[in-house]
Amino acid sequence: MKVRVNLGERSYDIEISSDLLEKSGAELGVVSSPKCLVITDDNVKKLYYQKVADSLIPAGINCSAAAFKAGEESKKLETIAFLYGEAVRAGLNRDSFIVALGGGVPGDVAGFVAATYMRGIDFIQIPTTLLAMVDSSVGGKTGVDLPQGKNLVGAFWQPKKVLIDPCVLKTLPEREIKCGLAEVVKYGVILDAAFFKLLASNVPKLLSLDLDFYSSVIAKCCELKAYVVSNDERESGLRAILNYGHTFGHAVEAVSAYHGIAHGEAVSIGMCMAADLAVSMQIMKKEDASIQEELLKNLGLPVRLRGCLIPAKIIEAMATDKKKTDAGLALVLPLQIGAVEIRRGVDPALVLEAIRGRCD
Ligand SMILES: NC(=O)c1ccc[n+]([C@@H]2O[C@H](COP(=O)([O-])OP(=O)(O)OC[C@H]3O[C@@H](n4cnc5c(N)ncnc54)[C@H](O)[C@@H]3O)[C@@H](O)[C@H]2O)c1
Ligand SMILES: [Zn+2]
Repeated sequence: MKVRVNLGERSYDIEISSDLLEKSGAELGVVSSPKCLVITDDNVKKLYYQKVADSLIPAGINCSAAAFKAGEESKKLETIAFLYGEAVRAGLNRDSFIVALGGGVPGDVAGFVAATYMRGIDFIQIPTTLLAMVDSSVGGKTGVDLPQGKNLVGAFWQPKKVLIDPCVLKTLPEREIKCGLAEVVKYGVILDAAFFKLLASNVPKLLSLDLDFYSSVIAKCCELKAYVVSNDERESGLRAILNYGHTFGHAVEAVSAYHGIAHGEAVSIGMCMAADLAVSMQIMKKEDASIQEELLKNLGLPVRLRGCLIPAKIIEAMATDKKKTDAGLALVLPLQIGAVEIRRGVDPALVLEAIRGRCD
């Protein structure tokens, strides 16, 4: 399956097919140079680097790997500095290219190295988590965190190609699959009621990791993300709808740092909070909010916050999102399954109520 991301001269294809990893060399006709650096994390390196290298080398591509410790903690400027050193050591020049192999962390980090090394060189995304396949590998946002906050430094830098091999999901921990599914459900709610329905009627296939079904789901998500990015590459409008469930979700994550809530789990709860808010503002029917909640629950995602999280703290943490633009806090609120709206200036009392209603 192939999905095109239309961005003028920066357009590219997303290729989705089983065992694509073994064929990556043949797929990389888009790059001109025979030299590349594969940037990955230590987990993914052990699992998949050799497969990629075994395919690149016969295609005449000279590759080496640079791996850092797996996890969000590595998404920092020190890692970028280390990788610039590795790029020089590997002899990368302006005609060389970088391969991002891994989840969203290697993707964001390698993309930023590619955007800035020698003022920008080509890069290819080979995402290996569900989240990276349906979200972070498409759209060209790259960057790292600062001690002061997530994703505060970065660049828009589109890949030349995205290669997705759903078979690698077999080794991905179940919790990571579920987290990716929260983002998958998000696409249905914000843009595509028919896709949402398809997900809701195929929960067993999603839970049993039916790879054929996953291929079509991933392709649909990439299509939807490609549509959004093609219309608003730099997030001046439409692209913000991808933040659905995320303003609440990020705040939940920030406040619950020690309760071990993963990003996708926080997004799942965040989508429920956003839907509850929409219901209380009478812009969405209660039954639509329940349909969303039902699917998230059936997929094994949390829809309520347990533990001692304080609603007021969550709203405080939302103020961090508010600082991101001068225009203030923008909330993505659902109108029905398949349609959302961006609202500013929502009554804080209603927001607090929506949060409180999901805290046990
Ligand atoms: N650029 C964007 O548009 C965008 C969008 C969404 C999220 N993100 C970023 O993505 C990051 C999160 O991505 P993530 O959830 O993929 O995290 P991640 O890259 O840390 O991967 C999660 C874990 O899974 C392991 N792993 C990866 N693939 C595997 C496989 N096939 N089998 C077994 N283990 C595997 C990794 O080693 C890691 O331990 C965050 O930093 C977030 O900010 C970026
Ligand atoms: Zn997300």
